[in-house]
Amino acid sequence: MKIMVVGGGGREHAIIKKLRENPAVTEIYALPGNGGIAADAVCVPIGAKEIPSIVGFARENKIDYAVVAPDDPLVLGAVNALEAEGIPCFGPRAEAAIIEGSKVFAKNLMKKYGIPTAAYEVFDDPEAALVYLESAPLPAVIKADGLALGKGVLIAPTKEAARDAVKTIMQDKAFGKSGEKIVIEEFLTGPEVSVLAFTDGRTLVPMVSSMDHKRAGDNDTGLNTGGMGTVAPNPYYTDEVAARCMETIFLPTVRAMNAEGRPFKGCLYFGLMLTPDGPKVIEYNCRFGDPETQVVLPLLESDLLTVMQAVTEGRLSSCPVKFSGKSACCVIMTSAGYPEKYEKGFVITIPKELTDKVYVAGAAEKDGKLVTAGGRVLGVTAVADTLEEAVRDAYSYVNAISFENAFWRQDIGKRALAAARGCDETAGSRSG
Ligand code: AMP
Ligand code: GLY
Repeated sequence: MKIMVVGGGGREHAIIKKLRENPAVTEIYALPGNGGIAADAVCVPIGAKEIPSIVGFARENKIDYAVVAPDDPLVLGAVNALEAEGIPCFGPRAEAAIIEGSKVFAKNLMKKYGIPTAAYEVFDDPEAALVYLESAPLPAVIKADGLALGKGVLIAPTKEAARDAVKTIMQDKAFGKSGEKIVIEEFLTGPEVSVLAFTDGRTLVPMVSSMDHKRAGDNDTGLNTGGMGTVAPNPYYTDEVAARCMETIFLPTVRAMNAEGRPFKGCLYFGLMLTPDGPKVIEYNCRFGDPETQVVLPLLESDLLTVMQAVTEGRLSSCPVKFSGKSACCVIMTSAGYPEKYEKGFVITIPKELTDKVYVAGAAEKDGKLVTAGGRVLGVTAVADTLEEAVRDAYSYVNAISFENAFWRQDIGKRALAAARGCDETAGSRSG
């Protein structure tokens, strides 16, 4: 079977490594992939947003199954275009991917169907937003409507910061068209949980829960990033919380999308906050999370391709999806300076015995060597019987890998371990 995976980061590397476990898979093409993914797939220099070229490649190479992983091509309709060519795909069509593509859509959906989320107002006029902020509660959470590389959320502790945020998004257009509308919402508190779920539009199967670490620095300080590390499972996500989320959030979301004539098929990502009033949705993503996937898929015992095909063909209810009871930790090694300015082009040295622990995100091949080419460079994952061992092992692998200007957080899993021991002194306050 010939598979095509659209995307080129650590998440895509994790998906590709898992797909390769199926003996029926003969070839995997990554569009565009990266210098590290090249060890596990044929990388084709077609960008993830170049939809006509992606479709052309799939047609010419007789691709049997396609996985569209990143948000941009999903929102732009890559799945619609591939399906129109008769190519079966994993991922939602554009009309369902809007659940991530427009925060205004997502918030209005939740309001209409009674799905718990932060209270909010929508603005398309900066003047009206500024008037509203005069009496809005602080901190204010200001979100650009559209996709913004995970950077479109600004938390303003003061009125002045809130006014600046509105100006940055709507008047300076820091996120371009994505900021033509904004959502201003209530500030929630509580531990955060990421839950990715397979859904074929009828059945929904949550994967093992995880915890992201979004801020650049230790103890959740510094700028927001794409994610500096993850652990799974998330100790805050107890069976009781899971049951409540299924009943009040997951299934209502699937039903709401159907009722809107936008059935969602693929991986639906729930960014949740466990507030004192119960779990609430912070964000939906229409795809696998990055770097959540780098801890979730290594714990999947079922065959990924089989599950993905069951989603595509609408028979998830009869497809077993099993996760091991183990724990995983992924530490992201970045180029120092990320998420702002950083240098690239440094040679990466990974001991041979660790290559199966490494998901390559931002690296290129140069003169036969792997060199740094992005902010997030590698995701280094360990799986072990306990979270404590997984964290320890992940850091021991990180210490054996080297490149100039490498930076990583030292505290991935620290909060989860404290919570698991029942002594998280920060529980009740916001993480990440
Ligand atoms: P998002 O890109 O929507 O996941 O937002 C990025 C981060 O901002 C989240 O992971 C939260 O830590 C934080 N955040 C977003 N919305 C809220 C909110 N309403 N209250 C508190 N924190 C929030
Ligand atoms: N790790 C958060 C995301 O994938 O959006």
